[in-house]
Amino acid sequence: MKIDAAVQRYSAQGRYVEGFARGKMKADPAYRAVLAYLQPGMTLLDVGCAEGYLLALAAESIGELRLVGFDHDLRRLGIARAALEGLDAELYAGDARDTELPEADAICVLDVLHYQTPPEQDAILARLAGALRVGGVLLVRDGRSDGGWRSTVTGWSEKVAMALGRHKGDGVWFRTQAEMRAALEELGLEVAVDPCAENTPFANVLFVARRVGVGRSTDGEAEPSG
Ligand SMILES: C[S@@+](CC[C@H](N)C(=O)[O-])C[C@H]1O[C@@H](n2cnc3c(N)ncnc32)[C@H](O)[C@@H]1O
Repeated sequence: MKIDAAVQRYSAQGRYVEGFARGKMKADPAYRAVLAYLQPGMTLLDVGCAEGYLLALAAESIGELRLVGFDHDLRRLGIARAALEGLDAELYAGDARDTELPEADAICVLDVLHYQTPPEQDAILARLAGALRVGGVLLVRDGRSDGGWRSTVTGWSEKVAMALGRHKGDGVWFRTQAEMRAALEELGLEVAVDPCAENTPFANVLFVARRVGVGRSTDGEAEPSG
């Protein structure tokens, strides 16, 4: 994972922005985990991309990706736009609940769903599954509510971040691992669950959900998998 090259993309925006980028890229195990599912030629959609850290890491580490990301926080999106300048990257302001979605081979939604209510989470997941190409993978990283003391730490850290104004939203809604898995399986996806909390006190897991059945093909028609 090419952290130095990705961080370099943020250096023109000042030491604070660069330092935050480096800290987050080094500390969060989700980025490395996600990169393992990417290959050159893919379209990667990052839902709630914030400052674009995953997209920058993917561009530097994998190369030859079509990068698409959106977020409803314009300040964070502005940082992403400046960092990804010159790349094959499309970044737009949008809300996961209703924004238009491109077809993609890999869709990431990392630490985003819990800012919506469970019914909204289900609706967003259905929209994302509909945008996934046959053979594609939907990667959902979120905290689980049934992870003991880790869930308590995760919940409190989110509440503090919201109180400090770092995250927008009306609240936080974590779900059990079984609930999230069931929500994805309900959409016809094949689901595996990986722990994603290495070297952190959080209750995070990565749901790896694959579209192996009928889905949207590259020309927009429904087609069965081969
Ligand atoms: C904790 S940050 C995670 C950022 C990024 N996914 C990462 O892991 O590096 C959550 C991001 O999701 C965005 N977000 C939350 N709900 C959203 C929604 N409904 N539509 C678009 N963005 C959303 C927030 O604005 C914020 O930038």
